Amino acid sequence: MPKILNETLETIEKRKSTRAFADTPITPEEKETILHAAFRAPTAGNMMLYTILEIEDQAIKDHLAVTCDNQPFIAKAPYILLFLADYQRWMDVYTLSGVKERCAELGLRYREPQAGDFLLAVTDAVIAAQNAVIAAESLGIGSCYIGDITENYEDNRRLFSLPRYVFPAALLCFGRPNREHTPETQVSRFAPEFIAHKNTYHRLDAAELERMMQNLQDKFPTGRYLEGAQNLGQHQYFRKFNADFSFEMSRSVREALKNWDCE
Ligand SMILES: Cc1cc2nc3c(=O)[nH]c(=O)nc-3n(C[C@H](O)[C@H](O)[C@H](O)COP(=O)(O)O)c2cc1C
Repeated sequence: MPKILNETLETIEKRKSTRAFADTPITPEEKETILHAAFRAPTAGNMMLYTILEIEDQAIKDHLAVTCDNQPFIAKAPYILLFLADYQRWMDVYTLSGVKERCAELGLRYREPQAGDFLLAVTDAVIAAQNAVIAAESLGIGSCYIGDITENYEDNRRLFSLPRYVFPAALLCFGRPNREHTPETQVSRFAPEFIAHKNTYHRLDAAELERMMQNLQDKFPTGRYLEGAQNLGQHQYFRKFNADFSFEMSRSVREALKNWDCE
């Protein structure tokens, strides 16, 4: 527990991902409030490099429950927001504003969005998403990110009619938890000493890594390792890093980046 607590910090402290939802619908006022909180997030150059889609169509929810690495709870979420990294809107503004023509007149090179712009738009979208998470939590509405939305780019592009410079950065499922969250059901974090350092990067040595993992290892029954894994590091590698979805994620992002000017 932090030494200072107020209402905002308590909301942050108590949050945990919600994957099982009560049937209670999210009211229009709550939806508006969550969206408003997202819009109030910091945004690079005040450009709002994102678009948010409210996913209301059950057929789309059902589809995402399959394409986002088969996670059935997505289909049952009362409210879903898709945060799209969006440079298209600004490129369209530039076109409307005659920027290309003006560049030609001035003898300047006109450029298309590049890798840095992609990263900036993704950052913008995700920061807005996290504001939505905290706003929802403060209303008693839980949430869960779905990272797998960055997979299957071609399919998502068709499904959501995405233009060239728009990429799905984060999917958020919202709903009231179907049972009360208690501190015991929260997942713990690595100790701060391994994560926060002062001024320059500190690469953890073997002893520090052992101590960092021990904390997790103590809470993870050995019998639950994936087949073939002898320790938690191996388990994590096989379950996440080397899993099919991780390869699909990288393939999908590479495919999307072909649309951006990424030499
Ligand atoms: C980028 C990102 C992607 C995530 N993707 C998924 C996901 O696809 N499915 C899921 O159930 N949880 C997903 N989560 C939730 C994490 O599993 C969760 O935040 C983590 O286990 C810590 O638990 P907590 O949020 O309850 O503290 C994701 C979280 C983040 C930040």
